[in-house]
Amino acid sequence: MGSIDTPTITENGTTQSHTAAAAADGDQKPLASSNGAPAEMTLELEATKKRRASMLPLEVGTRVMCRWRDGKYHPVKVIERRKVHYGGPNDYEYYVHYTEFNRRLDEWVKLEQLDLDSVETVVDEKVEDKVTSLKMTRHQKRKIDETHVEGHEELDAASLREHEEFTKVKNIATIELGRYEIETWYFSPFPPEYNDSLKLYFCEFCLNFMKRKEQLQRHMRKCDLKHPPGDEIYRSGTLSMFEVDGKKNKVYGQNLCYLAKLFLDHKTLYYDVDLFLFYVLCECDDRGCHMVGYFSKEKHSEESYNLACILTLPPYQRKGYGKFLIAFSYELSKKEGKVGTPERPLSDLGLLSYRGYWTRVLLDILKKHKGNISIKELSDMTAIKAEDILTTLQSLELIQYRKGQHVICADPKVLERHLKAAGRGGLEVDVSKLIWTPYKEQS
Ligand code: ACO
Ligand code: ZN
Repeated sequence: MGSIDTPTITENGTTQSHTAAAAADGDQKPLASSNGAPAEMTLELEATKKRRASMLPLEVGTRVMCRWRDGKYHPVKVIERRKVHYGGPNDYEYYVHYTEFNRRLDEWVKLEQLDLDSVETVVDEKVEDKVTSLKMTRHQKRKIDETHVEGHEELDAASLREHEEFTKVKNIATIELGRYEIETWYFSPFPPEYNDSLKLYFCEFCLNFMKRKEQLQRHMRKCDLKHPPGDEIYRSGTLSMFEVDGKKNKVYGQNLCYLAKLFLDHKTLYYDVDLFLFYVLCECDDRGCHMVGYFSKEKHSEESYNLACILTLPPYQRKGYGKFLIAFSYELSKKEGKVGTPERPLSDLGLLSYRGYWTRVLLDILKKHKGNISIKELSDMTAIKAEDILTTLQSLELIQYRKGQHVICADPKVLERHLKAAGRGGLEVDVSKLIWTPYKEQS
């Protein structure tokens, strides 16, 4: 299966940068070619130089081609610009969004990376803004309403735009967590006193964050946690899962949200962590239990969500932990006797992981099952919501509509082919190692 690009991770503090690797000096775009005599050529070069200089600094909203870390030029939109320290009046750096790629690859680039001959006329931001506000989903509206209920001013379309404006540029560039230095993906609304830091240092156990390494070192000498707070509800080999109640461990819950938002684009940060349980997955050794990833779950969900946000920290991604977390969320739903579904919208990586998980679980059952089976029966067996089963099987073309009903048509050879294409199964959840009772409000 192909790979979706993500920023870099470094172990033991040695920084690598894809961008630096790709941006070889000799890679500059040539000036416009000319077939004329040398004198004419000089004139033409002068004219080109002048034309380019007249465009500078580029306006926010400009569309232009930009040299990426693969050494090739890709279309970008200028999101923000800032003056280069000690530069001339037109010396700016530009924060760009590669329109073909996910927002996690947005970055600051130097002018040399931009091909000024490809500059397109500035887009009408007002028109774009209108489209953005129209595109607001019901889900987003609900979240905005919740913010209102929580006592904030109502976010109308203008405030939403202001919010988007405020979050469009990544604030924290890297974090240190345990033995990893990790490049962040998105903006996260850390308290204002952290806004001047490009790097933050996290205690890997209590998730407190600090601006300086020495502060972290001092903290580590005092911090007596060696695992997430809360109850260990699963242990199998070196893998442990902890359940953290946001109401009992408010600061931990908030720290986890700040950290997670650095890698989650579309999620609204809930300050009200009281309403959530956090399931934190750890790899344990003699130094402690090191967080690998987590998912959050509303204590009560009207929409039958069994998972709100899911994250595998970048150093641990693509090793099967994501599918483990997803499988775990469905095991909890089975214990509750409910069906569940993840909160929408799903990110690109979230959708891939869920599709992979649903496909594998459903095909495994269909392969073993003799005779007819309905979507309802599949849903009862797996705790996967019927709609998710239907869309998964439809995308695999295993559903036919006969006499007003959806019928599953599963030819063994087709199943085998789909299973092979569905990728690896992820780490197994050993249900016998799960010791858990569903959440009950304590009076
Ligand atoms: N490129 C291509 N496919 C990928 C990639 C990638 N970079 N990452 C994951 N996948 C797909 C693959 O199909 C993979 O299965 P495979 O390795 O067998 O081919 C499958 O997703 C899941 O792989 P896992 O190793 O089980 O999952 P991982 O530990 O990488 O975690 C997760 C997946 C949680 C989505 C992770 O990518 C992540 O944390 N992303 C950032 C946060 C995010 O987007 N979360 C989901 C938001 S939606 C929501 O919260 C409801
Ligand atoms: Zn700590």
